[in-house]
Amino acid sequence: MAKTYPVVSAEYQEAVEKARQKLRALIAEKNCSPLMLRLAWHSAGTFDVSSKTGGPFGTMKKPAEQAHAANAGLDIAVRMLEPIKEEIPTISYADLYQLAGVVAVEVSGGPVIPFHPGREDKPQPPPEGRLPDATKGSDHLRQVFGKQMGLSDQDIVALSGGHTLVSLHICSICFHVIYLDRCMHALTLFSCVSLFL
Ligand code: HEM
Repeated sequence: MAKTYPVVSAEYQEAVEKARQKLRALIAEKNCSPLMLRLAWHSAGTFDVSSKTGGPFGTMKKPAEQAHAANAGLDIAVRMLEPIKEEIPTISYADLYQLAGVVAVEVSGGPVIPFHPGREDKPQPPPEGRLPDATKGSDHLRQVFGKQMGLSDQDIVALSGGHTLVSLHICSICFHVIYLDRCMHALTLFSCVSLFL
């Protein structure tokens, strides 16, 4: 089935393009691509496909969601984006946070990701505990990405590429890339294995 996207007005599209320019300048100047990509991902990664709750709907603006254990430090990203929102109030927080992730990838030398605007801000943050826990293994990843978000193993592998924005180390035993800690090492191994499934 073909995907459908919200239709936005020309005025809204103009606001999106203006925000894109501002984001390019901010992210390049502050060198904060990883932080902005993490903001976009942690906003989207709470989506629950069966209840259709959570997801990238601007709720990271709320202190309650910023206080979730997985979101430590994302209050900084929210504060950094506030001047852009104030200057371009037409754009929703929901679209602004996702666009920040798209621009972060582009500014880091990645592809220009097609951006489909039209997300509306929701009033209620999702419950805590929907993002993956870095201390758990591949079954947990399949539970969160597969059962909760409705994604595939291939999606897990592709999305985990987001960690290429983080500083890397090489495991001296197996020569896999260790992104952040032991748990991310496990994720990398899982990603490699999945490629051959
Ligand atoms: C697969 C499950 C995932 C787990 C368990 C996980 C876990 C983590 C952890 C523990 C950190 C360190 C946070 C900190 O500095 O306190 C981190 C950072 C980061 N993650 Fe993930 N993550 C996952 C998926 C993703 C995805 C799908 C993306 C993007 C598409 C992503 C993007 C990032 C980025 C960019 C950072 C660095 C943020 C910064 O340095 O400011 N992660 N992740």
